[in-house]
Amino acid sequence: MTLFSDLLAAARRWASDPGSWPIQPQYDTAERWYARLAETPEHEVWLLTWLPGQETDWHDHGGSAGAFTVVSGALVERTVSGGRVRHTDLPAGSGRRFGAHHVHSVANRGAVPAISIHVYAPALRSMTRYRLLDGKLRVAEVERAGVSW
Ligand SMILES: [Fe+2]
Repeated sequence: MTLFSDLLAAARRWASDPGSWPIQPQYDTAERWYARLAETPEHEVWLLTWLPGQETDWHDHGGSAGAFTVVSGALVERTVSGGRVRHTDLPAGSGRRFGAHHVHSVANRGAVPAISIHVYAPALRSMTRYRLLDGKLRVAEVERAGVSW
C-alpha cells in the first residue's frame, strides 16, 4: 500500500491546506482554469476552477485512477450506466474516487464559481474524449493529458 493508495484522502489533504498551494486559484472566462500543484512518479495533483456553466466533455483518464474533491462552490458529475445518464451532486466538501476505466463529465451548474482538487495515479498521460449517442459513449478523440480533462 503506497502513501497515495487513497487518492481521495490525498485530495482532501490538499483541499484543506490552501496555504500550501504553489499557485492560488484564478478564473478564466474562456475555459476552465487549471494548474498542477504537485507531481511525483506515482501521482499528480491539479487545482481547477469552474465558472458557472463551465464543464468538461465526456472523458476518461487514460488508465489513471483518481479522485477529486470540491473545495468551494458545487459541481455535478455525470456518468453513464446501463444506457442512462446519472447525475451526482457534489457540494463543497464532497468528493469521489474513481477507477482506471471511469468515464465521466463534470460541470458547474451552480450560480457561483467552484474550486476543486484532483489527484491522479499514475500521472495523466493521455485521455480519450467521448460523445454520448443513444445512451452509449463513443470514442471521439484521444488527447495528450494536460489540455483538458
Ligand atoms: Fe475527469
